[in-house]
Amino acid sequence: MTREVRIVDDAAALSAAAAAEIAVALAAAVAARGQATLVLSGGSTPRGVYAALASGGGLPAPVPWPRVHVFWGDERHVPPAHPDSNFRMAHEALLAHVAIPPEHVHRIAAELADPAQAATRYAQEIRAVVTDATGGVPRFDVVLLGLGVDGHVASLFPGSPALAPDAPLVAAPYVQAMKAHRITMSLPLLNAARAVIGLVSGAAKAAAMRHILAPGPASPPPPGALVQPVHGRLLWLVDRAAAGALAPPAS
Ligand code: 6PG
Repeated sequence: MTREVRIVDDAAALSAAAAAEIAVALAAAVAARGQATLVLSGGSTPRGVYAALASGGGLPAPVPWPRVHVFWGDERHVPPAHPDSNFRMAHEALLAHVAIPPEHVHRIAAELADPAQAATRYAQEIRAVVTDATGGVPRFDVVLLGLGVDGHVASLFPGSPALAPDAPLVAAPYVQAMKAHRITMSLPLLNAARAVIGLVSGAAKAAAMRHILAPGPASPPPPGALVQPVHGRLLWLVDRAAAGALAPPAS
């Protein structure tokens, strides 16, 4: 694994930097393997990244959308039209504006009454589409993650069973903090990726950002600290506000 922490000025710079990294990685994947697989993050931080990808302006390489398959790292247990749906946000900000074939948009069926059934179906869909693998685990080209103030990524909250090395590809934990089920890719699946790009913006994330980079011996490391792509690249894109608690780089 290679890890880079890149501090950028602000949210706009973070969106531009992330969009550029994603475009280059997807173009390289298509050139090398004929298709690219992208895992989108939920939450609000990625919205600016998706808008930058949708506009296409200033990207170092055009995104070959007709050959890209899109997935979600997690989903709330709500229908796709629900205001809280991660699918809805990504569709509005990105997918409705680019030439991606509808059959390449792999939505989590979070409208199903049984979230465990949604998780099982999603794992089957991932295995059918993502034929590249490492250690028998499907290998995505690019995974986007946000970071919660408690150090969660995707819907992997502290103490989640989906953090275990033998966790299934996709899980449907009940999240006490949210008083709701979530459907989430597991840590082993995230860590099989070629590249993981973390998107962290705002002063509210400063403590969590410091904690995931230097978890210390006291308590279990936060989920974000466990994101360590086995044979891949990890890039944390952090704006200055979110980097406010990080030690200054050695001069
Ligand atoms: C979700 C995300 C979640 C999110 C973080 C950060 O479904 O909400 O997967 O992990 O990325 O909570 O959210 P913000 O970007 O809104 O701060």
